[in-house]
Amino acid sequence: MLHIGIIGLGAIGQRLIKKFKEHPDVEITAVCDRLESLVRETSNALGGVQAYTDYQGLIADQRVDLIYIAVPPKFHHPIVMDVLKAKKHILCEKPLANSLDEAKEMAQAAKEAGVIHAMNFPLNYEQAASKFAELIGQNYVGKLRRLQLTMHFPEWPRLWQKNDWVGEREQGGFVLEVGVHFIQQTLKLFGGIKKIQTRLELPEDPQKCETGVIATGELEDGTPVLIEGLSHIAGKEHIGFTAFGSEGILSLENWGELSGGKNGGELNAISFVETKPNRLIDELVKAVNGQEAELYDFEVGYRAQEILEKLRKM
Ligand SMILES: NC(=O)c1ccc[n+]([C@@H]2O[C@H](COP(=O)([O-])OP(=O)(O)OC[C@H]3O[C@@H](n4cnc5c(N)ncnc54)[C@H](O)[C@@H]3O)[C@@H](O)[C@H]2O)c1
Repeated sequence: MLHIGIIGLGAIGQRLIKKFKEHPDVEITAVCDRLESLVRETSNALGGVQAYTDYQGLIADQRVDLIYIAVPPKFHHPIVMDVLKAKKHILCEKPLANSLDEAKEMAQAAKEAGVIHAMNFPLNYEQAASKFAELIGQNYVGKLRRLQLTMHFPEWPRLWQKNDWVGEREQGGFVLEVGVHFIQQTLKLFGGIKKIQTRLELPEDPQKCETGVIATGELEDGTPVLIEGLSHIAGKEHIGFTAFGSEGILSLENWGELSGGKNGGELNAISFVETKPNRLIDELVKAVNGQEAELYDFEVGYRAQEILEKLRKM
C-alpha cells in the first residue's frame, strides 16, 4: 500500500483525492491545508485521517511515503525543497515552479535526492491525447506545416477555479495554467520550441494577469508554432491543439475530443476507446515499487518552464 500525504486541498487537490480514494493500492494517510476549516472538513470526509495546517508536520509524518503538492504555483518551490530534504517521493502539480530559477533548483535537487519526482500532466494519461500522439506517430497529417494552440475563455478565472491567485499576474493567467499542458505535449511529440516571440494583452491593473496572447516560435526543423489565446470574449470556452500537415489536420479539442480530416475533405470527430481511469496513480505505484513507469518528471517540468517563462514575458 502506498501512503499518500496531500498538501493543498483546493479545487485540484480535491479532484485528485477522488482518484486516490478509488485506487486499491493507495491510501490517503494525511492531509494539509493552511485553511483550518478546509483541512478539518477534508479529513472528516476521509474518515478522520491525520490533518495538518503546517506542511512541515505532514512532511515529518513517518507514515507518509509520497507527498502530493497541490498548492498555488509560488508555493511549489519551498514545499518541494523541504520534501526533497526529507527524501520522500513527490507528485507535484504543474507548472513545476513560478520561475525558471526555481524550476532548475527543484529539478536538480530532485535528481540528487534519488526519490520519485513526478508531475501531474494528466493529458498523458488520457485517451484523446494518447490517440492524438498515436496518429501523429503514424503520420496522419503528413509533413507538419504548422502547430497551433488556441485558448479561448469567455471568463478567466473559469467558473470551477475561482480563487485569489489564478487571475493574478504574479502566479496566474491562462498561459501558465493551461498553456503548460500543451507545451509539455509539444515537447513530448514534436521536440522543443525555439525563436519564441510573444505579445501579451495585459490589463491596466498591474496585478491582473494577461487577457490575450499571440506568440510564435519554431520547432527544431523550422516548422512554425502559433500560440494564441484570449479571455473575456463571447461564446464558449475552446481549447484546440492542432497539427496542420501536408496531408491533413488533427486537432485535440477541449482536452478530451479529437477531430481530423484529410486536406480538401471534411473535419470529423475521431473516436477512441476510453482507457482505464487513474493511470497516473497506477504509474506512481509502479515507480515506487521499483518497476518501470510512465511518469513525467521534474526535468520535464523544467523544460516546459523554460518555454513558459518566454511566453509569459514580453
Ligand atoms: N493538473 C491540472 O490539470 C491542474 C489544473 C488546475 C490547476 N492545477 C494546479 O494545481 C495547483 C492548485 O490549484 P488549485 O486550483 O487547486 O488552487 P486553489 O487555490 O483552489 O487551492 C490551493 C490550496 O492550497 C492551500 N495552500 C496554499 N499555500 C499553502 C501552504 N503553504 N500550505 C498548505 N496549504 C496551502 C490553499 O489554502 C488552498 O486551499 C496549482 O499549482 C495549479 O496550477 C493543475
